[in-house]
Amino acid sequence: MLRLERVSKAFGTSADRVHAVREIDLQLRRGDFLTIIGSNGAGKSTLLNLIAGTSPPTSGRIFLKDRDVTGIPAYRRARWIGRIVQDPVAGTVPSMTVAENLALAMKRSGRRLTRAITRGRLREMLDAMRRLGMGLEDRLNDPVSTLSGGERQALTVAMATLAPPDLLLLDEHTASLDPANALAITRMTGAFIEEAGLTTIMVTHNMEQAIAWGDRLVMMHNGRIVHSLAGDEKKKASVGDLVELFSRRHIADDELLLGVAY
Ligand SMILES: Nc1ncnc2c1ncn2[C@@H]1O[C@H](COP(=O)(O)OP(=O)(O)OP(=O)(O)O)[C@@H](O)[C@H]1O
Ligand SMILES: [Mg+2]
Repeated sequence: MLRLERVSKAFGTSADRVHAVREIDLQLRRGDFLTIIGSNGAGKSTLLNLIAGTSPPTSGRIFLKDRDVTGIPAYRRARWIGRIVQDPVAGTVPSMTVAENLALAMKRSGRRLTRAITRGRLREMLDAMRRLGMGLEDRLNDPVSTLSGGERQALTVAMATLAPPDLLLLDEHTASLDPANALAITRMTGAFIEEAGLTTIMVTHNMEQAIAWGDRLVMMHNGRIVHSLAGDEKKKASVGDLVELFSRRHIADDELLLGVAY
């Protein structure tokens, strides 16, 4: 499904060069769910940006569904890749209503777009909104700009469920939410991924989440994958084990420790 071959990304000029991602090899099969942890500046978001195509790698190649997509721009990769980032504003059109945003998501899924919100489509929207349990089914005609961050992020996840991507990239998508909403959105996202069997990469600072979700976990540091856990080893891992791994590598990061709280 996804293959990275010695992918590197450096920013800046030779004088102030930052090697954000260094020679990463990574392979995901269909249905794999990978979680990524790592300290601030480890290169996690840069890696997801390279996969999404928002910036080209300095070297290396990226293959998606067996085709070389290294030179393919983000807007064309968006046919296969869904992306939810920390900022809830990013995934929606704020000036449009909830229903119009949902209609856009349905259009992206390749179904024929009629201008009208048909009765069938409305039923589907109402079902999707009821499942969120946030009362958004009563706000279909409200502009998205009037929703709270948590409500908007829930809507973004629902939009992804209406148009399941081949590959879902989550970059700390609950980080800007309060603990209760973060937990609710995390559960909702996890249930959706498992239900749809989506191929997923999730970046998180929350080590409990990183252990609880997915079938593989990698730790990044200084642009490299420095540790990898899968199968029973991952299932048996505790937050303490991960903290131990971090400290063994002299990675001091208060945020990682704070992430344990919920
Ligand atoms: N557009 C850019 N221009 C210059 N440097 C950049 C750019 N984007 C990222 N970097 C640098 O690359 C390194 C990796 O950044 P990145 O955002 O990938 O880290 P991260 O692991 O996502 O961190 P965080 O946990 O804080 O989100 C950092 O040193 C960062 O300053
Ligand atoms: Mg980041």
